[in-house]
Amino acid sequence: MLPTMKITVVSGSHRESSQSEKVARFCEAELKRQGVESEVLSLGRNPLPLWDEGVWGDDPKWISVWGPISKTLKASDGFVIVSPEWSGMVPAGLKNFLLLCDSTEVGHKPAMLVAVSSGIGGSYPIAELRSSSYKNNRIVYVPDHVIVREAESVLGGDQPASDRDAEIRKRLHYSLSMLIEYSRAFTAVRASGRINLKEFPYGM
Ligand SMILES: Cc1cc2nc3c(=O)[nH]c(=O)nc-3n(C[C@H](O)[C@H](O)[C@H](O)COP(=O)(O)O)c2cc1C
Repeated sequence: MLPTMKITVVSGSHRESSQSEKVARFCEAELKRQGVESEVLSLGRNPLPLWDEGVWGDDPKWISVWGPISKTLKASDGFVIVSPEWSGMVPAGLKNFLLLCDSTEVGHKPAMLVAVSSGIGGSYPIAELRSSSYKNNRIVYVPDHVIVREAESVLGGDQPASDRDAEIRKRLHYSLSMLIEYSRAFTAVRASGRINLKEFPYGM
């Protein structure tokens, strides 16, 4: 049991009822089974306004909307970012969320990417998130990612419904166990005293 370790799972679909949230809840339960604290931040039930400059100041709108999320992110040691593939893209709401995240909240913390497709897609959101989305907030995507294809037919109940369902559960179990180890290891990076956000607030 690692009582102080917390991994937050972000469900990036802004549909009210989504496969991404189902996958996120599975990850949350699996993380708890592996002995860490976990919670789901779902963009489905928590649509955020589009980023504006007020977030840099003390705009009451942002204090009430982003304040509680910021607190959760700061208290987290690692993240799972679940993104559906929508028209070959990451949904705009998830990109907006990542734009709102700053380095005091997610910087130098590991994150595992999970893509979700009702068909055989899912690789585009992984490529998109790996090629952008981390530069200024300094979130660190770990090498293993998971693509949940034909999502409606897997991760539904307590027991696997098919061999493919069993395989994806095994993959998530393994990849999340690796994320826990990265989350543990990265606390040393943040405690090193090397992070210099004053001189280097933005990535290149
Ligand atoms: C606007 C929209 C566009 C979509 N485009 C794609 C796509 O390009 N590729 C794909 O594999 N699935 C696509 N899908 C289907 C999703 O994979 C499917 O809805 C899946 O359940 C994941 O999305 P969800 O988390 O919102 O449920 C699309 C769904 C929506 C709502």
